[in-house]
Amino acid sequence: MSKKSSSSSSGELASRITDLLTYGTGTVMGGGLFLIVGAFVIGSFGALRAKPEPVALETEAVPAAAPAAANAPSPAPAAAATSPAPAPAAGGGADLLATGQRIYSTVCIACHQPTGQGLPPMFPPLAGSDWVNVKKPDRMIRMVLHGFTGPITINGAPFTSLAPMMPPQGGALSDEQIAGVLTYVRSNFGNKAGPVTPEPPPPSIRYTSAGADVRVSTGSWLRMGLGIGMAIAGVLMLGHYARQALPQTPLPVVAQITGDLEVTERSGQTVKLSALRGKVTVMACLYTVCPHGCAAVVAQMQKLNAAYRTRPDFHLVSLAVAPERDTPDFLKAYAEGVGAKPEDPWWFVTGEQQRIWDYMTHELQLQAPVPIPEEKRINPLDFYEHDLRLVLIDRQGRVRGYYAVFHPQPEIATLMTEKLGRDVQRLLDNPAE
Ligand code: HEC
Repeated sequence: MSKKSSSSSSGELASRITDLLTYGTGTVMGGGLFLIVGAFVIGSFGALRAKPEPVALETEAVPAAAPAAANAPSPAPAAAATSPAPAPAAGGGADLLATGQRIYSTVCIACHQPTGQGLPPMFPPLAGSDWVNVKKPDRMIRMVLHGFTGPITINGAPFTSLAPMMPPQGGALSDEQIAGVLTYVRSNFGNKAGPVTPEPPPPSIRYTSAGADVRVSTGSWLRMGLGIGMAIAGVLMLGHYARQALPQTPLPVVAQITGDLEVTERSGQTVKLSALRGKVTVMACLYTVCPHGCAAVVAQMQKLNAAYRTRPDFHLVSLAVAPERDTPDFLKAYAEGVGAKPEDPWWFVTGEQQRIWDYMTHELQLQAPVPIPEEKRINPLDFYEHDLRLVLIDRQGRVRGYYAVFHPQPEIATLMTEKLGRDVQRLLDNPAE
């Protein structure tokens, strides 16, 4: 008992969540896209500083001040005039320079050599290079950040490398380290250009966590939040698709109808509800003059009637809560009023009140109607308080669900309405279920 109810409520919850995510046909593509973009945004979290600024490498516009000889491939081996030892920093800070030397001797040294003379014609010299000795180091920074390949002009002369590939360091080195290595290169090997400082950090939020001071960039927060949000949306949308595409857990069996009810149809014919075995049936308890939710319930029945009126295995039943008023003639006029044609699969039945009420409570397991005393009626036609839920019954006469399509909370009413439509379709599609 408890097992059954918990599994049905968790199924309902899942279906509510997915109902909220009904995006129509683009669900899968949208979900995948969200997931990828979200993951990408989260992934790029650590690479904030590498601005995707295009590498604009101008090989012309070269200051011709540096001696052309330093660039000639031939004198390289003998020209180790400068020492690779750290030179005193000219305002760049000793830390920056020490970092720079460490990076140079681990990353750059293999190509540009301990002397900074490079290895012509493979690797160009940094010593005396106009790329290094410019006032504004922007071009040099971009080159180290993003890498560079192609014919290059150094000090006005073309340098044609056999391995024309300067590897990008933006992913491997921090701003601090890049600024350091550039400062080191610019103040060594005879170069005398100024230090390169790391960019000031982006605006950040400062807060204290467990006594420690923490700084977090606002940009990072936004991107992180956005990324996580998109990834969650992606997962949910894919989940929605999977739920539709994969086999679902069957609808719960709430009750088995064992008894029968003989009633009078609006046509005047006597019918038995057991005659509807073999059909998917939706039943509701109504009374024609109901001033409240009955109209909402009938509206749903009208929709179902319109959708399935041609199906021989579908049927609707309106049971009269107040048979003393709802005589077959009354029901006939009412049925016409709500657009139910005589040939539609929709019975409007009435009969002996106690037997109808017993069927409602014992077989359909709805709540028993309660007469409203005259002094408590808000409306003079408020005769009964009664259970307005629609009941879904399968081909074997088993109750498979209740649907409060009239509900004080409109969101729930909407979800219930959608679930009713889905579940009816499911039972019609799967006769074995
Ligand atoms: C794998 C070899 C290699 C490594 C490692 C390397 N470079 Fe280069 N570098 C090159 C090549 C090749 C070029 C010329 C590119 C071309 O011709 O396309 C170059 C060009 C340059 C230039 C501009 C030309 C010049 O000679 O002034 C600078 C500045 C530079 N590199 C700095 C560095 C720094 C700083 C590092 C270390 C962070 C580094 N490189 C690591 C191969 C390398």
